[in-house]
Amino acid sequence: MLGNFSYCNPTKLYFGEDSLHYLDTELPKYGQNVVLIYGGGSIKKSGLYDEVVKILQDNGKNVAEIAGVMPNPTVAKLYEGVEIARNHHADFLLAVGGGSVCDYAKAVSVSVHCQEDPWEKYYLRFEEPACETLPVGCVLTLAGTGSEMNAGAVITNPDTKQKIGHVFADEKIMPKFAILNPKYTLSLPHYQMVAGIYDIFNHICEQYFSGEDDNTSDYISEGLMRSVIHSSRIANKNPQDYEARSNIMWAATWALNTLVSRGKSTDWMVHMIGQSVGAYTNATHGMTLSAVSLPYYRHILPYGLQKFQRFAVNVWDVDPTGKDGRQVAEEGLAAMEGWMRELGLVMNISELGATPDMAEGIASGTIVMSGGYKVLNHEEIVEIVKECFA
Ligand code: NZQ
Ligand code: ZN
Repeated sequence: MLGNFSYCNPTKLYFGEDSLHYLDTELPKYGQNVVLIYGGGSIKKSGLYDEVVKILQDNGKNVAEIAGVMPNPTVAKLYEGVEIARNHHADFLLAVGGGSVCDYAKAVSVSVHCQEDPWEKYYLRFEEPACETLPVGCVLTLAGTGSEMNAGAVITNPDTKQKIGHVFADEKIMPKFAILNPKYTLSLPHYQMVAGIYDIFNHICEQYFSGEDDNTSDYISEGLMRSVIHSSRIANKNPQDYEARSNIMWAATWALNTLVSRGKSTDWMVHMIGQSVGAYTNATHGMTLSAVSLPYYRHILPYGLQKFQRFAVNVWDVDPTGKDGRQVAEEGLAAMEGWMRELGLVMNISELGATPDMAEGIASGTIVMSGGYKVLNHEEIVEIVKECFA
C-alpha cells in the first residue's frame, strides 16, 4: 500500500433474518417526525410496508411518506420529496427499498435545509453540504449498489440527459444504520437479481483495475469476486437459496462501502459510460454496466496487462502455463464473459433501447475519470460506445 488515507465507516449494520426488530433499537435515537421513503410498491406487496409502519407507530413516530421513488430517481422527484420533508419538519428519513430509494433519501437529506438548488449545487458543481443534514436509516430490499453503507447518491435529470452520482465526502451522509435481511431480496425478479449481482461485481472491478502497487485491497477484492461468482451461480439456478442470497447481500455491502478503495486509485469508467447510457435509456443500472463492460475492458487491457493477467489467474483460475501475458489476460475476460452470459445479463446497449444516433451524446455525457489504466479521450469513448451496440 503506497497511498495515504483515513478510514471511517459509521453505518451500523444489522444483518440476517431477524434484523428488522432492531428498528426498535434505532428509532428512539432520532426525532419524532419521520419521513418513510419507498419505491413503486414492492414493499406493499411483500408485507414489509405494514411491518415497518407498525414499528414506527409502536415507537410513537409522527410519519409522513414519500412514495413512488422510481428506479434511477429523478431531480423532479427530489424536489417533490424535499417539499414533503420540509412541510413535515422532518427529523429522520427512513428508506425502505433498493439502491434508488436509499440514494434518494441521502439526496433529500442534504437538500431539505439547503438554500440553493440541490441539482446545481451537488450534481453539477459537486459541492458539499454547508447546511444541516438529516439522518438516514435504511431497510434494504435489493443487494447491489452498496448504498446502504456509503455516501453515494445518484440522481438523473431526464431533460438534460444526465445521470450523475455524488459520493459525498462527509461520512455523516452515510446511513446511520442499515437493516440487511437477505429474505427481503427473495422476491426480486430474476432480471433485478442478476443486475444487482453484476453491479456488485463491477464495483469491485472498478476499484481493482487500477494501480501497480502491491495492495491489500486487491487481495480483498479477489476474495469478494470469487464469493460473488460462486454464490451467483447457485442463486441463478435456485433464486430461493437463502445462503447464496445472504452471501450476495453481504458481498454487495463490502464491495462499495469504501473499504476496498483505500490506499489506491480507482477507475470507475464502466460506471461513467453506463450512467450516460442510463441517462439516455432509463435502463436498469446493473444492465447498463454489463452492456458496456467488455468493450471497455478489452480496450484498456493492453494498458493494464499485468492486472488483467492476475485477474485471470486469481479470480478465474486460468492456467498461465505456456501462455503469453496477453493470452492469459484475454482468457480471463473470456471466462468473465461466459459467466455473464450464464447469468443472462444484457450484453449490448441496443437491448436497453439505445440507438446508434445516440452514440455521440452518450460519449459526450460520459464523465472522464483519471484513476484507471488509461485516461480516455472523446474519440476512444465514441469508439467504445459504438462497440456496445448489438
Ligand atoms: O420500486 P419498487 O416497487 O420497490 O421496485 C423496485 C424497482 O422496480 C424493485 N425491487 C426492489 N426490491 C425488491 C424489488 N422488487 C421485488 N422485490 C424486492 N425485494 O427493483 C427495481 C429496481 O430497484 P432500484 O432501487 O432502482 O435498484 P438498485 O438497488 O439497483 O438501485 C439502482 C440505483 O442506485 C444507483 C444507480 O445508479 C441507480 O440509480 N447506484 C447507487 C450507488 C451508490 N449509492 O453508491 C452506486 C451504484 O453504482 C449505482 O450507481
Ligand atoms: Zn453500480
